[in-house]
Amino acid sequence: METKIYKNPVIAAKETALTVAKAVNENPGKLFCFAAGDTPMGMLGELVELQKAGKTDLNSVYYAGLDEWLGVGYKDKGSCAQVMWDNFYGSAGILPERINIFDGLTGDPLAEARQMDAWIKQHGGIFFTVLGIGLNGHIGFNEPNTPGSDSCSVVLLDNVTLEASKKYFDTPQTLSKGITINWKTLLEAKEMVMMAMGENKASIVEQSFKGPIDPGVPASLMQRHKNLVLVLDEAAAKE
Ligand code: F6R
Repeated sequence: METKIYKNPVIAAKETALTVAKAVNENPGKLFCFAAGDTPMGMLGELVELQKAGKTDLNSVYYAGLDEWLGVGYKDKGSCAQVMWDNFYGSAGILPERINIFDGLTGDPLAEARQMDAWIKQHGGIFFTVLGIGLNGHIGFNEPNTPGSDSCSVVLLDNVTLEASKKYFDTPQTLSKGITINWKTLLEAKEMVMMAMGENKASIVEQSFKGPIDPGVPASLMQRHKNLVLVLDEAAAKE
């Protein structure tokens, strides 16, 4: 594992975007998978700028949405679909046929999981993923002790995650489940960047990467990844 510590989230976003753009430029046709949430938004914004400046072609690769809250869709401000379309896919002008995301409004979550499995398989697995870390150590919606699987998972959301969900939505939601690419599939990605910013992530970063591998702290499972790059700002690196 390589750890990169930047003075602040703005510099971390710029540098990580350059790394991702290089990977895009060198690997046309590959599958990229980015977390939604607050952490990668600066980096995704920088990627949009690189696209506008002609420094990368974000339409040369494919995308798999990492996760979604079940019960919400694009029209719900705060859903992963809305956040990713409005801040990345849409603003970068990425063609819809390059993108596959979970439909949180589906009546059949298992079918939704299977269609994402098929998309990932069709594109030769995930090539490059950029992940965030939840306050309970979750990655995607792989909550503590989510079993490893070769298929996407429907998960019962942890109370820590339900509490954190309030920061994304502008209207109250009755959420209880999520759908996510399983951590085992993420571990198979060729390249992995995990980002954490801010003092409130310092403790979970320490638990995940200084402690032992523990299924109760899903981010720690990523210690097994050969090419993991952990990107922190100074505040998140405090511990
Ligand atoms: C969202 C996702 C989550 C977030 C995590 C951190 O698609 O995959 O695992 O990365 O909850 O969220 P933020 O970045 O908002 O602190």
